[in-house]
Amino acid sequence: MGSVTKTTIIQGLHDLGLHTGCRVLAHSSLSSFGHVEGGADMVIDALLDVVGHSGTILVPTLTGSEALSASNPPLFDPENTPCWTGRIPETFRQRPDAIRSLHPTHSVAAIGADARRLTSMHQDSITPCDALSPYGLLATMPDSYILLLGVGHNSNTTFHHVEEIVGVDYHMQPGLVRAEIHTGDETLIRHIMLHAYGTPRNFGVMEAVYTERDIQYMTKIGEATVRLVVAQAMVEVTTQCLQADHRILCAQDA
Ligand SMILES: CC(C)(COP(=O)(O)OP(=O)(O)OC[C@H]1O[C@@H](n2cnc3c(N)ncnc32)[C@H](O)[C@@H]1OP(=O)(O)O)[C@@H](O)C(=O)NCCC(=O)NCCS
Repeated sequence: MGSVTKTTIIQGLHDLGLHTGCRVLAHSSLSSFGHVEGGADMVIDALLDVVGHSGTILVPTLTGSEALSASNPPLFDPENTPCWTGRIPETFRQRPDAIRSLHPTHSVAAIGADARRLTSMHQDSITPCDALSPYGLLATMPDSYILLLGVGHNSNTTFHHVEEIVGVDYHMQPGLVRAEIHTGDETLIRHIMLHAYGTPRNFGVMEAVYTERDIQYMTKIGEATVRLVVAQAMVEVTTQCLQADHRILCAQDA
């Protein structure tokens, strides 16, 4: 297969139903496409072109890890702390017009009309994906989507928002941890909860439900399998299922 071009990506995103003015949180694997002409920057340009100036693109710029705890608390500098969520978000967050939310472990970078609105309250989130976080806020706004570019639902951070709504017992470390956020001007101190690691998830278990409810659409772009889910409906449906069975998102042997 030849190189994937900007036109190919834009066409694929339009085929999924994305359009001017919508809001899209994109999780990604650059290599999943096959060779992309122009690399990460070209994928970002394609995403921004599809939603236009009235729309918003968001990417997860996560920095938390299993190593964090009360004795090894997070130190976060939005300018300089790299994310571990891939080349596309790492490139995106460094664009001059990107706004990165000030969360010590689960920050999100955004460009577009609602970028500030979606990111500005994250510094006050006690749990990383709560109602004030971009994940939570996006799910309250119509015409908002989660896009999985060559990755599956295990990369879909919005599932953690649902786990926080339902309050499952395996998701958070007990107690609050003192975290520091170093901006250029000041150091913010926040007392936050950290993810508990060690419970493997199988978020893909929800795909059949999303397809049946007609809230997930799929296509191929280059070699990548691409999924689009309606954010608000995904959170509503998944919350209902998780309330009915608190272990439904856990891998079977967890
Ligand atoms: C971990 C993860 C990012 C790895 O994906 P990946 O495709 O291997 O890596 P990236 O997206 O960072 O892209 C970089 C890779 O793309 C490839 N690449 C480089 N230029 C490229 C181009 N022009 N076209 C296509 N691929 C290219 C290279 O293999 C490069 O790897 P290298 O830096 O080791 O050389 C991905 O599997 C993933 O999990 N993404 C989702 C993360 C997320 O949102 N998590 C939320 C958790 S709740």
